[in-house]
Amino acid sequence: MSDPAVPSAWIGTSWKMTKTLAQAREYAQALARVSWAEGLQPFVIPPATAISAVADILPPGGPVLVGAQDAHWEDAGAWTGEVSVPQVKDAGARLLEIGHSERRAHFGETDERVNLKVHAALRHGVLPLVCVGEDAEQRAAGSAVELVSSQVRAALDGVASSTQVLLAYEPVWAIGAGGTPAAPEDIVDVVAAIAEVGGPARPVLYGGSVSLDNAAGLISVPGVTGLFVGRSAWEVEGFTALAEIVAQRST
Ligand code: PGA
Repeated sequence: MSDPAVPSAWIGTSWKMTKTLAQAREYAQALARVSWAEGLQPFVIPPATAISAVADILPPGGPVLVGAQDAHWEDAGAWTGEVSVPQVKDAGARLLEIGHSERRAHFGETDERVNLKVHAALRHGVLPLVCVGEDAEQRAAGSAVELVSSQVRAALDGVASSTQVLLAYEPVWAIGAGGTPAAPEDIVDVVAAIAEVGGPARPVLYGGSVSLDNAAGLISVPGVTGLFVGRSAWEVEGFTALAEIVAQRST
């Protein structure tokens, strides 16, 4: 795995199913002009169609990591519609998002597949970013810590404890336009559980309706070393403003 200096904080966005190539290039060009705070690792996860265009502007080894939103666990084969880790790596991705709740809810992503994809990413020197999180019913039932801990355990099955894997706590009830933003106190216990199960080689990011209003509070929760953002970072000004908040809180 390409493992430069270990960052002290992370700020990233997935564009999900948004942006044309022209929009992706414009955003990437703006990111290429930013001077990032020391120790801060920014990352951007375009749709598969734009990975190559974005990585041409933000190449591997540069200050901004480029990722893919998903990839198959096999390297190649008859899997219509899928892309593999070697393919997204060839396009310029060095990070792979795995197990986002939208994929778990709508595309049959199971804990077992998440684990297969973690191993596929690591086989090819791509940094896995595993998303975990409970839904509103599970939280109401008091099973958030247990559920999320088991998602983390399953994702990391068979992975050496020294291997870096990013973990993103993304409570399903907090994600997206219909989500309820979490208060810092809502996430303390689950973050602590993820940090414990994940171990020291596993930075814990928080995601779900992160915005300029709540980012400072969320990044201050003990154990949170980064933010993973959707809508609030889909304009580059949002991303850079959030990056500054993370940099200030983590240094
Ligand atoms: P959101 O998305 O910031 O738009 O809620 C977060 C995510 O899904 O990672």
